[in-house]
Amino acid sequence: MYSVVLDSVCKSYPNGAEPLVILDNASYQFETGKFYSVVGRSGLGKTTLVSIIGTVEKADSGSVIVCDHNLSDVNQKQITEIRRKHIGFVFQNFSLIERYSVLDNLEIPLYFAGIKNSSQRLKMIKDAINSVGIPENKLQKPVSTLSGGEKQRIAICRALINSPSVIIADEPTGNLDEENEQKIIQIFMDIKQQKNCTIIMVTHNLKIANKADVTVTLKNGKIVEADETK
Ligand SMILES: Nc1ncnc2c1ncn2[C@@H]1O[C@H](COP(=O)(O)OP(=O)(O)OP(=O)(O)O)[C@@H](O)[C@H]1O
Ligand SMILES: [Mg+2]
Repeated sequence: MYSVVLDSVCKSYPNGAEPLVILDNASYQFETGKFYSVVGRSGLGKTTLVSIIGTVEKADSGSVIVCDHNLSDVNQKQITEIRRKHIGFVFQNFSLIERYSVLDNLEIPLYFAGIKNSSQRLKMIKDAINSVGIPENKLQKPVSTLSGGEKQRIAICRALINSPSVIIADEPTGNLDEENEQKIIQIFMDIKQQKNCTIIMVTHNLKIANKADVTVTLKNGKIVEADETK
């Protein structure tokens, strides 16, 4: 079973006379229930790749299938729907609203996902924070009062809260110390076990990358497994 299938995907950016080619007929299948890391030098196209998978960037050609939906066959409204339903994002800078409480930050995506019953939302939020080791007494605290590691765990909660099939994390441990880095990776490994979701994580840290089941990188516009580059 595959959660994400790329078939002959091309993507380039305009760049003066010669376009900057990121993907050149790249094909790859991301298996359901596997943890992938994406590595490679700065500017290689890692963020572009995960943005295409996450439906926030469009491929120029080729097919991208996310949870059985071919993104070239659906309209913008359906793409937004697929993103909401199937994909969870975690970014390096957390992208939480600092002056809002932890509860508000977690409640907003649930509200937009159509969960109108507030006690149901609260139950989902409590389950999510429990799963990442954040105590319930932090719920009313503004995000600005949390540590970097706590913020990142809340950002992961927000990504997980709708039980997405694909979790995309772009350098999720970039701002954290080693202890918190380990905690975050452990959370990803636990989530993968519990939810059987696919995790695709960009990282510069090879020690972290090696914890994933499979490490991929980009080479000549193709997606290749890291062992193949050796
Ligand atoms: N919207 C855009 N328009 C033009 N060029 C872009 C655009 N987005 C990215 N690029 C270029 O594409 C290349 C790949 O960018 P990308 O952000 O995917 O790299 P990355 O591997 O994530 O790098 P980093 O490790 O620094 O985050 C870079 O050279 C970047 O300048
Ligand atoms: Mg990047």
